[in-house]
Amino acid sequence: MKIGVLTSGGDAPGMNAAIRAIVRKAIFQGCEVYGIKRGFSGILEGDMVKMDSLSVADILHRGGTILQSARCLEFKTPEGQALAKDQLEKLGLNGLVIIGGDGSFRGAQVLNKMGFQTVGIPGTIDNDIGCTDYSIGFDTAVNTVLDAMNKIRDTASSHNRTCIIEVMGKNAGFIAVSAALTGGAEAVLVPEVPYDLESLATQITKNVARKKSHSVVLVAEGLFGDPNSIDHSSSFKVGNYLSLRTGLDIRVTILGHLQRGGTPTFFDRKIATLMGSKAIDLLLAGETEKMIGYSENRIQIYAMDEAINTKKSLDPEQLELVNILANA
Ligand code: F6P
Repeated sequence: MKIGVLTSGGDAPGMNAAIRAIVRKAIFQGCEVYGIKRGFSGILEGDMVKMDSLSVADILHRGGTILQSARCLEFKTPEGQALAKDQLEKLGLNGLVIIGGDGSFRGAQVLNKMGFQTVGIPGTIDNDIGCTDYSIGFDTAVNTVLDAMNKIRDTASSHNRTCIIEVMGKNAGFIAVSAALTGGAEAVLVPEVPYDLESLATQITKNVARKKSHSVVLVAEGLFGDPNSIDHSSSFKVGNYLSLRTGLDIRVTILGHLQRGGTPTFFDRKIATLMGSKAIDLLLAGETEKMIGYSENRIQIYAMDEAINTKKSLDPEQLELVNILANA
């Protein structure tokens, strides 16, 4: 079998661990493997390179993706799709592993309809993909946020300040809630749940009155407005409001792309490695249009359609717990 692997959408720490597992497991099983550069763009441009065992040496611990990534608009057009079919047939690729988010999986479905076997691996720091509890990169990103929170709290305490920290997640609040819960934030604002800035102002004023040395508020980047054109003003709007209402000294930090890089954690390497290996098992078993997830502490297989169409929800109990622990 000739297998292609690509990473698409936003890169995520741990993608390299998945690529390594895919390449080496495929070679172990006697397959040829091709690395497709820059996601679906590499298919259209015919930018695909044969991978051997050494080509994935020394990458387990590196963030980013050695195959690079892109969001390819041309692939969405009928002409782009016809070109993709030609290019894949030219090389004789018959199985593809697509690592990315739900946009990437929609692309995988298109390829599947053209007769190519496809398996998806969830890779996005946002952790917003349906069916799976975890996607590659989320754990590392949350740990990066925790590290930043620790540092910001040091300076916030020293100056008795309230600090607003904006985190990524597109239109989902999974990074924000997980970091708030484990990093001890005083409050967290996410797009999925209505928020009340007035009561947040009251809470922060009370924190000052009961001699809390600081308040840290996590704001998900998609809090206001269109998730497709995040303008990073959410946290400044929250900061300005709180500053006017409370008269306190407030600072805003946008963590931005810092959250996308860095060496992957044990957990991201583990799920990426298991998912990569399972992707080859599935292709060799003749499976197609499947997504590999990690739920209930083990690898699980889902129909790609189900993964794309299932909306993942935040756990309301976790949000409530952030408030209980911050205000008790
Ligand atoms: O989907 C991952 C993500 O990092 C989102 O959290 C963020 O909104 C977006 O990608 C940023 O995309 P880009 O790197 O294209 O600016």
